Amino acid sequence: MRKTKDPIDFPDWESLYRNERTETMPWYYPPLDPDLESALQELGKKGAALDIGTGPGTQASALALLGFRVTATDLSATAVGNAAKEAKKRGLEIAFIEDDILHTRLTERFDLIFDRGCFHTLPPKRRKDYVSAVSGLLREGGFLFLKAFSHLERMKGGPYRFKKEDIRRLFEGKFDLLSIEDTVFHGTLTPFPKALFCVLKKTGRG
Ligand SMILES: C[S@@+](CC[C@H](N)C(=O)[O-])C[C@H]1O[C@@H](n2cnc3c(N)ncnc32)[C@H](O)[C@@H]1O
Repeated sequence: MRKTKDPIDFPDWESLYRNERTETMPWYYPPLDPDLESALQELGKKGAALDIGTGPGTQASALALLGFRVTATDLSATAVGNAAKEAKKRGLEIAFIEDDILHTRLTERFDLIFDRGCFHTLPPKRRKDYVSAVSGLLREGGFLFLKAFSHLERMKGGPYRFKKEDIRRLFEGKFDLLSIEDTVFHGTLTPFPKALFCVLKKTGRG
């Protein structure tokens, strides 16, 4: 993990979504993330799902098509506005909400949460706050599916990178780490950047 004293200067998310086409963004990927798809097939989960940092909303839409009741949040009002329009065009009912996961105003409890690329953009000193927030939004025994860049990815720039032991250490106490696999971050970059896909289950203690 990079050190707290070396913060990454991310673009302002709202300006980004106002000024650029979502289809050109590195994370834009219309189908359901293949790692999440395999995990859902294995676990047979259904119910209420939350997509944190939904951005273009592609993953929220894919989850809705699978029959989940989906809430999708993002810091950027423009991102959720555009994603809501896209979903409506496709006849999908998704609750798109402008919300900062570090100061969440959500009160519902979810059966599963998907975070594909939000966590790895958060300031390192706020990671424990993120873990508490996400744990608080899950029903007991609920699942967090997390995709983040791996320390094996050497491209210049981009988000924070993680080793498997970083994830284990950050989430322990509130989550049981069921699996953590080396994978890629599907999107518009070639080759796809190296990533980790983590399946975490909220503990009774969380
Ligand atoms: C790498 S993009 C991934 C977008 C989407 N999950 C996907 O897979 O297409 C990260 C997203 O996280 C959002 N984000 C960053 N910080 C956030 C926060 N504190 N709360 C909610 N969303 C946040 C950004 O606006 C951006 O849309």
